[in-house]
Amino acid sequence: MDQFEIEGPCRVAGTVRVSGAKNAVLPLMAATLLARGESRIHNVPDLRDTRTMASVLETLGAKTRREGDSLIVDTSRAEGTEAPYELVKTMRASIYVLGPLLAARRQARVSLPGGCAWGPRPVDLHLKGMEALGASIELDAGYIVASASRGLRGCEITFDPSSVGATANVLMAAVLARGTTVLENAAREPEVTQLAEALVCMGATIDGIGTTTLTVEGVEVLEPMDIRVIPDRIEAGTFLAAAAMLRSKLVVEDVRADHLTSTISALRECGCAVTDQGDSIEIDGSQAAEPFNIVTRPFPGFATDMQAQMMAVACGLDGISVLRDTIYPDRFTHVAELRRLGADIRLDGNSAVVRGVARLRGAEVMATDLRASAALIIAGLAAEGSTRLHRVYHIDRGYERIEEKLRAIGAKIRRVPGPPTP
Ligand code: UD1
Repeated sequence: MDQFEIEGPCRVAGTVRVSGAKNAVLPLMAATLLARGESRIHNVPDLRDTRTMASVLETLGAKTRREGDSLIVDTSRAEGTEAPYELVKTMRASIYVLGPLLAARRQARVSLPGGCAWGPRPVDLHLKGMEALGASIELDAGYIVASASRGLRGCEITFDPSSVGATANVLMAAVLARGTTVLENAAREPEVTQLAEALVCMGATIDGIGTTTLTVEGVEVLEPMDIRVIPDRIEAGTFLAAAAMLRSKLVVEDVRADHLTSTISALRECGCAVTDQGDSIEIDGSQAAEPFNIVTRPFPGFATDMQAQMMAVACGLDGISVLRDTIYPDRFTHVAELRRLGADIRLDGNSAVVRGVARLRGAEVMATDLRASAALIIAGLAAEGSTRLHRVYHIDRGYERIEEKLRAIGAKIRRVPGPPTP
């Protein structure tokens, strides 16, 4: 298993380009199953998760190929209906094929995803949504067995709590259902909005895109999509956080500042100068000093996927910052690892109380999930001495060549093969 060797403290400078959004491309790939023919998705990041989703589609009979940064998915002969445990266990988002399969093939057998490092992560809202659309759902030997032999029919659904995954999945099912579906308290994260826009390009009728009420008029057939994936707001936010942590100036290119407003607010609160330059953001983190408070919320609130990286930033500020996660109250596996670098963090329910320290010191740390890994990298770059990050396969799930991008802006980080697994 690969590891990262990080030498700190260092500064970064220059320009870094953001890749396409992992969380946008995964539902788009699943949505290709809704039409017959060749869909073209551009600006697709080459990640472990996009490869896993391609494998899921291949298992279902689709053909996938890459042309540069584009992914072509041919669903002409995709007759399969089963997403097996071997793939779903490595990526929860495989459950995104449930809605498209039910809508387009009228049946699906999808392995039930397990829990994860930050809690049980249920899929009850996905299943309730499919049932509301008229599907029958059974659980059998760890699989969701769903069928709608006479097709899906429109309905009204309220999501409580707001769920990105359930909104996307049920939306993909509703576009081919008979009649009208109204999704209330729908997630309006940019990745859901992009999915809705892609579905409209395929021929779906959806009103209220970008709001918490989506109204869908079912149609009979959809055409393949041709779409460019939005920039990854979490990757962009991670580079902005790195600039704050390393008191550095950076231009982060190919971003949408309107997708990052709450992250930018938090960075300004701690003293960073952040300038929106159209499709890039300039950050000057040289004056970052003030502590800040954040509470994670559904978009446009502060993203839970930025909580760990901002916690790393808080470790180097003067005073006490409080980070509360209301989306995933247990999402704090990075706390113990940051403490190994010398951080002063106390957990109080779903809040982390971080007292900034004068310096972090390098140590061996372990990546526990994707965003925790990003937090440990930026903390490691700020820490004095060597940091060795184990289990970087987590970061490969969602960041494209992160060590190369960081090296190009001056960071001392390199990938090394770990010892062979016993
Ligand atoms: C997506 C993102 C993930 C991000 C999360 C929250 C992808 C592939 N992943 O995950 O990176 O951290 O949104 O922004 O896009 N819930 C239920 N029942 C359900 C589904 C969710 O109770 O059936 C709860 C969850 O436990 C959580 C909340 O709803 O408390 C939000 O989760 P959700 O938005 O569904 O997260 P994901 O779509 O899994």
